[in-house]
Amino acid sequence: EWTPQAIQAEIDALKHKPGALLPILHALQDRFGFIPEAAVPLIADSLGQTRAEVHGVIGFYHHFRTAPPGRHVVQICRAEACQAMGARPLEAHAKASLGIDYHQTTVDREVTLEAVYCLGNCACGPAVRVDDRVLGRVDAERFDALIDELQT
Ligand code: FES
Repeated sequence: EWTPQAIQAEIDALKHKPGALLPILHALQDRFGFIPEAAVPLIADSLGQTRAEVHGVIGFYHHFRTAPPGRHVVQICRAEACQAMGARPLEAHAKASLGIDYHQTTVDREVTLEAVYCLGNCACGPAVRVDDRVLGRVDAERFDALIDELQT
């Protein structure tokens, strides 16, 4: 769980480095799973930037979450090599079968669906990451099996 003190500690550890904003955002997401809204004014004040600037950077990178993720994070690769191998129908299937869009979490808080741009598994597309595991050649059937596995 995040607290303003814990957020400030992460900021203070990095704020003197050049280009500290991105490392701070990464550190916060690594620690808390997302970037709490309360972090924005703390970061802005610590770095002498405006809140709008901090929001702008968070919004620019798909990587950063602004809401807590579900118990599992499922990422589908949308980069070219995976698209050539059927990532588009896979993502349509994933959204339909989970009933959510990218950056959303299922109502039972089990699964958050995210897009990524290359998982370094291009020879085995479509690539999907489920939490810390990167999997290749994921079709609709395999996707459903992976989700079933998470929920048991
Ligand atoms: Fe999908 Fe690289 S393009 S893993």
